Amino acid sequence: MDYQQLIEEVYHQVQEENLKGKVADYIPEIATVDPNQFGIALIDLKGNVYGVGDHNVPFSIQSISKVHTLTMVFNVFNSKLWSRVNVEPSGDPFNSIAQLEYEKGIPRNPFINAGALVITDALCSKFESPVDQIIEFINELVGDTCVKINTHVKKSELNHGERNTALAYFLKSFKNFNNPIDQVLEVYFSHCAMEMSCVDLAKSFSYLANNGYSIFANRQILSESSARRINALMLTCGFYDEAGEFAYKVGLPGKSGVGGGVAAVMPHKFSIAVWSPELNEKGNSVKSIRALELLTDKLAFSLF
Ligand code: DON
Repeated sequence: MDYQQLIEEVYHQVQEENLKGKVADYIPEIATVDPNQFGIALIDLKGNVYGVGDHNVPFSIQSISKVHTLTMVFNVFNSKLWSRVNVEPSGDPFNSIAQLEYEKGIPRNPFINAGALVITDALCSKFESPVDQIIEFINELVGDTCVKINTHVKKSELNHGERNTALAYFLKSFKNFNNPIDQVLEVYFSHCAMEMSCVDLAKSFSYLANNGYSIFANRQILSESSARRINALMLTCGFYDEAGEFAYKVGLPGKSGVGGGVAAVMPHKFSIAVWSPELNEKGNSVKSIRALELLTDKLAFSLF
């Protein structure tokens, strides 16, 4: 398979379709991004890098970082973690608080904001300096020191963090939160404000395509069965109330972020990151999703 030719075909076809969306503006600093940028990077299991468009431009990875933080706590907490957060799709927007009340403070899954805050809280319990250790971990996954926190984006989120603050207090009222709320929110906003290029993001997801083993870090990051479980969670919950549609159209485990990025994996074959800032009404990148749909159509295979 000529992956370079494949992603170039996909790239040009998507550009011709001239799809439109809206850049996320609830984090004002993110709204300043040039909306016309578009890049794709694919990494095969040997570590070959294929890229097209703005694949080397760093962008705000936002909720895609929830996969990295989940990976960091996955082994440490094991079955204990799953008494604090479930593994069911929510069918609700990423920042919804509705289910938390009638499900007594146990978030549906680790990718909606409520669940991700529980994961970040767990991370704060385990690690001395969680932000540094998240950066260190992702740099290790990439095999390079590439991750930077955009402090303007982080501050912008802190200044408009009413929803996440409410979620954290709500979790605390159900005793599903152990650390000071301000501390956890600071770590959460820091990891959401990390910037990486498509190439580095795809590298950082490569272990999920490779039975838990990262060729860039040169070690087993997660057991084979844990990596499969993270992929299952991405497939069922990675796109919030659009998870079904992504599985239907694309058929790969993936995770989106409101910066316009999507990272996905084809188990046993490759990892891929696509980025374009304009989002649909569910908060997922219009061009990135279309690109991945075309990609699996042209490949004539997906998970299914
Ligand atoms: O919590 C927030 O609102 C953002 N830091 C992350 C949101 C996000 O990326 C949701 N995913 N599509």
